[in-house]
Amino acid sequence: MMDVIDLRSDTVTQPTAEMREAMAKAVVGDDVYGEDPTINQLEADAAAMFGMEAGLFVTSGTQGNLIALITHAPRGSEVILGDKAHIFVYEQGGMSAVGGIMPHTLSVQQDGTLKLDDIERAIRGDDSHFPRTKVIAIENTQGTVGGVPLSPEYTQQVADLAHRHQLKLHIDGARIFNAATYLGVSPAVIINGADSMTFCLSKGLGAPVGSILVGNREFIAEARRARKLLGGGMRQAGVLGAAGLIALHKMSQRLADDHQNAAYFLEQLKTVPDIDILSQHTSFVFFTLTDSAKLSPADFSAKMRQHNILLRPYPGFERKFRVVMHHWITRKKVDQVIRAMKHVLR
Ligand SMILES: Cc1ncc(COP(=O)(O)O)c(C=O)c1O
Repeated sequence: MMDVIDLRSDTVTQPTAEMREAMAKAVVGDDVYGEDPTINQLEADAAAMFGMEAGLFVTSGTQGNLIALITHAPRGSEVILGDKAHIFVYEQGGMSAVGGIMPHTLSVQQDGTLKLDDIERAIRGDDSHFPRTKVIAIENTQGTVGGVPLSPEYTQQVADLAHRHQLKLHIDGARIFNAATYLGVSPAVIINGADSMTFCLSKGLGAPVGSILVGNREFIAEARRARKLLGGGMRQAGVLGAAGLIALHKMSQRLADDHQNAAYFLEQLKTVPDIDILSQHTSFVFFTLTDSAKLSPADFSAKMRQHNILLRPYPGFERKFRVVMHHWITRKKVDQVIRAMKHVLR
Protein backbone atom coordinates (compact mmCIF):
# COMPACT_ATOMS: atom_id res chain seq x y z
CA MET A 1 0.00 0.00 0.00
CA MET A 2 1.18 3.50 -0.78
CA ASP A 3 4.30 2.70 -2.79
CA VAL A 4 4.35 6.32 -3.78
CA ILE A 5 5.96 8.59 -1.19
CA ASP A 6 3.38 11.33 -0.96
CA LEU A 7 4.69 14.35 0.92
CA ARG A 8 2.07 16.86 -0.24
CA SER A 9 -0.12 16.66 2.84
CA ASP A 10 -1.22 14.45 5.73
CA THR A 11 -4.66 14.37 4.10
CA VAL A 12 -3.34 11.74 1.67
CA THR A 13 -3.03 9.12 4.41
CA GLN A 14 -5.04 5.99 3.72
CA PRO A 15 -6.84 4.01 6.42
CA THR A 16 -4.65 1.40 8.11
CA ALA A 17 -5.40 -2.34 7.90
CA GLU A 18 -6.70 -2.15 11.49
CA MET A 19 -9.08 0.65 10.50
CA ARG A 20 -10.38 -1.26 7.50
CA GLU A 21 -11.06 -4.29 9.66
CA ALA A 22 -12.84 -2.20 12.31
CA MET A 23 -14.90 -0.53 9.57
CA ALA A 24 -16.01 -3.91 8.25
CA LYS A 25 -17.11 -5.01 11.71
CA ALA A 26 -18.60 -1.72 12.92
CA VAL A 27 -21.89 -1.86 14.80
CA VAL A 28 -24.05 0.81 13.18
CA GLY A 29 -27.44 2.49 13.40
CA ASP A 30 -29.15 5.59 12.05
CA ASP A 31 -27.07 8.47 13.35
CA VAL A 32 -29.68 11.10 12.41
CA TYR A 33 -31.89 9.30 14.96
CA GLY A 34 -28.93 9.29 17.38
CA GLU A 35 -28.86 5.49 17.12
CA ASP A 36 -25.37 4.74 15.85
CA PRO A 37 -23.49 3.32 18.85
CA THR A 38 -20.09 3.67 17.21
CA ILE A 39 -20.66 7.36 16.45
CA ASN A 40 -22.10 7.94 19.93
CA GLN A 41 -18.98 6.43 21.43
CA LEU A 42 -16.67 8.43 19.16
CA GLU A 43 -18.39 11.69 20.04
CA ALA A 44 -18.39 10.93 23.77
CA ASP A 45 -14.74 9.81 23.78
CA ALA A 46 -13.61 12.89 21.85
CA ALA A 47 -15.52 15.22 24.17
CA ALA A 48 -14.06 13.52 27.26
CA MET A 49 -10.54 13.70 25.88
CA PHE A 50 -10.83 17.46 25.37
CA GLY A 51 -12.65 18.09 28.67
CA MET A 52 -15.79 19.19 26.83
CA GLU A 53 -19.40 18.11 27.46
CA ALA A 54 -20.30 16.90 23.97
CA GLY A 55 -19.03 16.15 20.49
CA LEU A 56 -20.42 16.04 16.97
CA PHE A 57 -19.07 13.93 14.12
CA VAL A 58 -18.97 16.04 10.94
CA THR A 59 -17.96 15.32 7.38
CA SER A 60 -14.88 17.56 7.27
CA GLY A 61 -12.89 20.25 9.00
CA THR A 62 -14.50 22.83 6.74
CA GLN A 63 -17.97 21.68 7.75
CA GLY A 64 -17.04 21.66 11.44
CA ASN A 65 -15.71 25.21 11.32
CA LEU A 66 -18.74 26.46 9.39
CA ILE A 67 -21.17 24.76 11.77
CA ALA A 68 -19.34 26.25 14.76
CA LEU A 69 -19.42 29.76 13.35
CA ILE A 70 -23.06 29.76 12.23
CA THR A 71 -24.04 28.29 15.60
CA HIS A 72 -22.14 30.93 17.59
CA ALA A 73 -22.80 33.94 15.37
CA PRO A 74 -26.12 35.17 13.89
CA ARG A 75 -26.40 36.65 10.39
CA GLY A 76 -24.96 40.16 10.23
CA SER A 77 -22.50 39.56 13.05
CA GLU A 78 -18.75 39.37 12.83
CA VAL A 79 -15.95 36.88 13.46
CA ILE A 80 -12.40 38.03 14.25
CA LEU A 81 -9.79 35.71 12.73
CA GLY A 82 -6.37 35.63 11.08
CA ASP A 83 -5.75 36.79 7.54
CA LYS A 84 -3.83 33.53 6.97
CA ALA A 85 -6.39 31.34 8.74
CA HIS A 86 -7.59 28.29 6.83
CA ILE A 87 -11.16 29.41 7.53
CA PHE A 88 -10.51 32.74 5.81
CA VAL A 89 -8.26 31.63 2.96
CA TYR A 90 -9.31 28.11 2.02
CA GLU A 91 -12.97 27.59 2.95
CA GLN A 92 -14.67 29.60 0.19
CA GLY A 93 -15.80 32.27 2.63
CA GLY A 94 -18.47 29.85 3.84
CA MET A 95 -19.27 31.96 6.89
CA SER A 96 -20.38 34.77 4.54
CA ALA A 97 -21.76 32.66 1.71
CA VAL A 98 -23.87 30.46 3.97
CA GLY A 99 -24.03 32.20 7.33
CA GLY A 100 -24.22 35.90 6.41
CA ILE A 101 -21.33 36.46 8.83
CA MET A 102 -18.59 39.01 8.23
CA PRO A 103 -14.93 38.02 8.67
CA HIS A 104 -12.80 40.69 10.37
CA THR A 105 -9.22 39.71 9.67
CA LEU A 106 -6.11 40.51 11.68
CA SER A 107 -2.51 39.91 10.75
CA VAL A 108 -1.24 36.43 11.69
CA GLN A 109 2.19 36.69 13.31
CA GLN A 110 5.11 34.43 12.42
CA ASP A 111 4.50 32.48 15.63
CA GLY A 112 0.94 31.73 14.49
CA THR A 113 -0.73 34.07 16.96
CA LEU A 114 -2.98 37.10 16.59
CA LYS A 115 -1.73 39.96 18.76
CA LEU A 116 -3.94 40.40 21.80
CA ASP A 117 -3.89 44.19 21.32
CA ASP A 118 -5.04 43.78 17.73
CA ILE A 119 -7.92 41.59 18.87
CA GLU A 120 -8.90 44.01 21.61
CA ARG A 121 -8.94 46.91 19.13
CA ALA A 122 -10.94 44.94 16.56
CA ILE A 123 -13.84 44.16 18.91
CA ARG A 124 -16.74 46.43 18.02
CA GLY A 125 -18.42 48.67 20.52
CA ASP A 126 -22.17 48.85 20.92
CA ASP A 127 -23.09 51.17 18.05
CA SER A 128 -25.84 50.71 15.48
CA HIS A 129 -23.36 51.47 12.67
CA PHE A 130 -21.36 48.34 13.42
CA PRO A 131 -21.91 44.63 13.07
CA ARG A 132 -21.79 42.86 16.42
CA THR A 133 -18.62 40.95 17.13
CA LYS A 134 -19.51 37.44 18.29
CA VAL A 135 -16.53 35.12 17.89
CA ILE A 136 -12.75 35.04 17.90
CA ALA A 137 -11.32 32.14 15.87
CA ILE A 138 -7.72 30.96 16.10
CA GLU A 139 -5.96 28.04 14.38
CA ASN A 140 -3.80 25.46 16.16
CA THR A 141 -1.48 24.37 14.67
CA GLN A 142 -1.37 27.42 12.39
CA GLY A 143 -0.83 25.88 8.98
CA THR A 144 0.22 28.58 6.56
CA VAL A 145 2.95 30.01 8.79
CA GLY A 146 4.45 26.54 9.11
CA GLY A 147 2.36 24.20 11.26
CA VAL A 148 3.19 26.28 14.33
CA PRO A 149 1.65 25.16 17.64
CA LEU A 150 -0.02 27.77 19.85
CA SER A 151 0.65 27.43 23.57
CA PRO A 152 -2.10 26.74 26.12
CA GLU A 153 -1.09 29.98 27.86
CA TYR A 154 -1.75 32.02 24.71
CA THR A 155 -5.04 30.22 24.10
CA GLN A 156 -6.14 30.94 27.67
CA GLN A 157 -5.30 34.62 27.18
CA VAL A 158 -7.43 34.78 24.03
CA ALA A 159 -10.25 32.92 25.81
CA ASP A 160 -10.11 35.35 28.75
CA LEU A 161 -10.17 38.31 26.38
CA ALA A 162 -13.10 36.81 24.45
CA HIS A 163 -15.09 36.11 27.59
CA ARG A 164 -14.42 39.59 29.04
CA HIS A 165 -16.27 40.88 25.96
CA GLN A 166 -19.00 38.18 26.00
CA LEU A 167 -17.53 36.63 22.85
CA LYS A 168 -16.94 32.96 22.04
CA LEU A 169 -13.57 31.43 21.24
CA HIS A 170 -13.53 28.85 18.44
CA ILE A 171 -10.39 26.91 17.60
CA ASP A 172 -9.77 25.43 14.17
CA GLY A 173 -7.81 22.54 15.61
CA ALA A 174 -7.50 20.52 12.42
CA ARG A 175 -4.10 19.38 13.76
CA ILE A 176 -4.67 19.96 17.48
CA PHE A 177 -3.08 16.62 18.42
CA ASN A 178 0.11 17.70 16.67
CA ALA A 179 0.13 20.84 18.81
CA ALA A 180 -0.54 18.93 22.05
CA THR A 181 2.10 16.32 21.24
CA TYR A 182 4.71 18.89 20.23
CA LEU A 183 4.21 20.94 23.38
CA GLY A 184 3.85 17.90 25.63
CA VAL A 185 0.44 18.81 27.05
CA SER A 186 -2.88 16.99 27.15
CA PRO A 187 -5.63 17.57 24.55
CA ALA A 188 -7.79 19.22 27.24
CA VAL A 189 -5.04 21.66 28.20
CA ILE A 190 -4.11 22.65 24.64
CA ILE A 191 -7.63 24.08 24.11
CA ASN A 192 -7.70 25.91 27.46
CA GLY A 193 -10.78 28.09 27.76
CA ALA A 194 -12.14 27.54 24.23
CA ASP A 195 -15.92 27.37 23.70
CA SER A 196 -15.64 25.12 20.65
CA MET A 197 -12.99 23.31 18.65
CA THR A 198 -12.95 21.30 15.43
CA PHE A 199 -10.28 18.67 14.85
CA CYS A 200 -9.71 16.35 11.92
CA LEU A 201 -9.57 12.56 12.10
CA SER A 202 -8.64 12.43 8.44
CA LYS A 203 -5.23 14.15 8.43
CA GLY A 204 -2.27 12.96 10.49
CA LEU A 205 -4.59 10.63 12.42
CA GLY A 206 -5.18 8.64 9.25
CA ALA A 207 -8.96 8.08 9.20
CA PRO A 208 -10.51 8.16 5.72
CA VAL A 209 -13.22 10.72 6.49
CA GLY A 210 -14.39 12.99 9.25
CA SER A 211 -13.80 15.63 11.86
CA ILE A 212 -15.26 16.27 15.29
CA LEU A 213 -16.62 19.46 16.76
CA VAL A 214 -16.60 19.67 20.56
CA GLY A 215 -18.26 22.14 22.93
CA ASN A 216 -20.84 22.30 25.69
CA ARG A 217 -24.09 20.33 25.51
CA GLU A 218 -26.27 23.26 24.52
CA PHE A 219 -23.88 24.37 21.77
CA ILE A 220 -23.56 20.85 20.32
CA ALA A 221 -27.36 20.43 20.30
CA GLU A 222 -27.62 23.58 18.17
CA ALA A 223 -24.63 22.51 16.07
CA ARG A 224 -26.40 19.20 15.37
CA ARG A 225 -29.27 21.17 13.86
CA ALA A 226 -26.84 23.20 11.75
CA ARG A 227 -25.15 20.01 10.54
CA LYS A 228 -28.53 18.71 9.32
CA LEU A 229 -29.21 22.04 7.62
CA LEU A 230 -25.93 21.74 5.72
CA GLY A 231 -26.74 18.21 4.59
CA GLY A 232 -24.27 16.67 7.02
CA GLY A 233 -26.70 14.35 8.80
CA MET A 234 -25.32 10.89 8.11
CA ARG A 235 -27.06 7.56 8.54
CA GLN A 236 -24.91 4.44 9.24
CA ALA A 237 -21.89 6.65 9.86
CA GLY A 238 -20.44 4.15 12.33
CA VAL A 239 -18.56 2.60 9.42
CA LEU A 240 -16.54 5.83 9.40
CA GLY A 241 -16.69 6.20 13.16
CA ALA A 242 -14.95 2.85 13.66
CA ALA A 243 -11.90 4.18 11.82
CA GLY A 244 -12.31 7.44 13.74
CA LEU A 245 -12.04 5.65 17.09
CA ILE A 246 -8.70 4.14 16.07
CA ALA A 247 -7.57 7.55 14.83
CA LEU A 248 -8.61 9.17 18.10
CA HIS A 249 -7.20 6.66 20.56
CA LYS A 250 -4.28 5.06 18.77
CA MET A 251 -3.03 7.24 15.95
CA SER A 252 -3.08 10.37 18.13
CA GLN A 253 -0.39 8.71 20.28
CA ARG A 254 2.19 8.31 17.50
CA LEU A 255 2.52 11.86 16.15
CA ALA A 256 5.89 12.41 17.84
CA ASP A 257 7.31 10.04 15.20
CA ASP A 258 6.15 12.40 12.45
CA HIS A 259 7.66 15.38 14.26
CA GLN A 260 10.96 13.55 14.67
CA ASN A 261 10.93 12.57 11.00
CA ALA A 262 10.27 16.20 10.06
CA ALA A 263 13.24 17.33 12.18
CA TYR A 264 15.38 14.57 10.65
CA PHE A 265 14.30 15.56 7.12
CA LEU A 266 15.24 19.17 7.90
CA GLU A 267 18.74 18.09 8.99
CA GLN A 268 19.23 16.00 5.86
CA LEU A 269 17.88 18.79 3.66
CA LYS A 270 20.90 20.89 4.66
CA THR A 271 23.02 18.54 2.53
CA VAL A 272 20.89 19.02 -0.61
CA PRO A 273 22.01 21.67 -3.13
CA ASP A 274 19.85 24.62 -4.22
CA ILE A 275 17.50 24.44 -1.25
CA ASP A 276 16.82 27.25 1.22
CA ILE A 277 15.26 25.91 4.37
CA LEU A 278 12.47 28.07 5.75
CA SER A 279 11.06 26.30 8.79
CA GLN A 280 10.14 23.10 10.59
CA HIS A 281 7.43 22.86 13.19
CA THR A 282 5.44 19.77 14.15
CA SER A 283 5.07 17.62 10.98
CA PHE A 284 5.59 20.47 8.49
CA VAL A 285 8.79 21.45 6.69
CA PHE A 286 8.88 24.44 4.36
CA PHE A 287 11.70 25.13 1.92
CA THR A 288 12.30 27.06 -1.29
CA LEU A 289 14.09 26.07 -4.43
CA THR A 290 16.77 28.73 -4.96
CA ASP A 291 16.84 30.87 -8.11
CA SER A 292 20.18 29.26 -8.98
CA ALA A 293 18.62 25.77 -9.21
CA LYS A 294 18.88 24.26 -12.70
CA LEU A 295 15.28 23.09 -12.57
CA SER A 296 12.09 25.11 -12.38
CA PRO A 297 9.79 24.19 -9.47
CA ALA A 298 7.48 22.39 -11.93
CA ASP A 299 10.38 20.41 -13.44
CA PHE A 300 11.67 19.58 -9.96
CA SER A 301 8.24 18.18 -9.03
CA ALA A 302 8.05 16.25 -12.30
CA LYS A 303 11.51 14.70 -11.80
CA MET A 304 10.70 13.75 -8.24
CA ARG A 305 7.53 12.09 -9.49
CA GLN A 306 9.72 9.87 -11.69
CA HIS A 307 11.20 8.64 -8.41
CA ASN A 308 7.66 7.97 -7.12
CA ILE A 309 7.84 10.97 -4.80
CA LEU A 310 5.06 13.54 -4.75
CA LEU A 311 6.00 17.11 -3.87
CA ARG A 312 4.49 20.30 -5.18
CA PRO A 313 4.85 24.06 -4.73
CA TYR A 314 2.64 25.34 -1.94
CA PRO A 315 -0.55 26.77 -3.47
CA GLY A 316 -0.08 30.47 -4.21
CA PHE A 317 3.73 30.33 -4.02
CA GLU A 318 6.04 29.76 -6.94
CA ARG A 319 9.20 28.33 -5.37
CA LYS A 320 8.02 27.42 -1.89
CA PHE A 321 7.38 23.77 -1.03
CA ARG A 322 5.68 22.23 1.98
CA VAL A 323 6.51 18.71 3.03
CA VAL A 324 4.21 17.02 5.54
CA MET A 325 5.28 13.95 7.48
CA HIS A 326 2.67 11.31 8.32
CA HIS A 327 2.46 7.70 9.33
CA TRP A 328 3.18 6.32 5.87
CA ILE A 329 6.53 8.14 5.80
CA THR A 330 9.14 6.09 7.64
CA ARG A 331 12.73 7.15 8.34
CA LYS A 332 13.82 4.90 5.47
CA LYS A 333 11.51 6.76 3.10
CA VAL A 334 12.90 10.09 4.29
CA ASP A 335 16.37 8.84 3.33
CA GLN A 336 14.98 7.78 -0.05
CA VAL A 337 13.53 11.28 -0.60
CA ILE A 338 16.84 12.95 0.25
CA ARG A 339 18.73 10.65 -2.11
CA ALA A 340 16.26 11.40 -4.91
CA MET A 341 16.44 15.16 -4.28
CA LYS A 342 20.24 15.08 -4.46
CA HIS A 343 20.07 13.08 -7.67
CA VAL A 344 17.49 15.36 -9.30
CA LEU A 345 19.18 18.62 -8.26
CA ARG A 346 22.80 17.56 -8.85
C1 LIG B 1 -5.88 24.23 9.39
C2 LIG B 1 -6.98 23.56 8.64
N1 LIG B 1 -8.25 23.77 8.98
C3 LIG B 1 -9.27 23.18 8.35
C4 LIG B 1 -9.06 22.34 7.29
C5 LIG B 1 -10.23 21.77 6.55
O1 LIG B 1 -10.33 20.40 6.65
P1 LIG B 1 -11.12 19.56 5.51
O2 LIG B 1 -10.19 19.42 4.37
O3 LIG B 1 -11.43 18.28 6.22
O4 LIG B 1 -12.35 20.33 5.17
C6 LIG B 1 -7.74 22.08 6.88
C7 LIG B 1 -7.49 21.18 5.74
O5 LIG B 1 -6.41 21.05 5.23
C8 LIG B 1 -6.68 22.71 7.57
O6 LIG B 1 -5.40 22.52 7.20
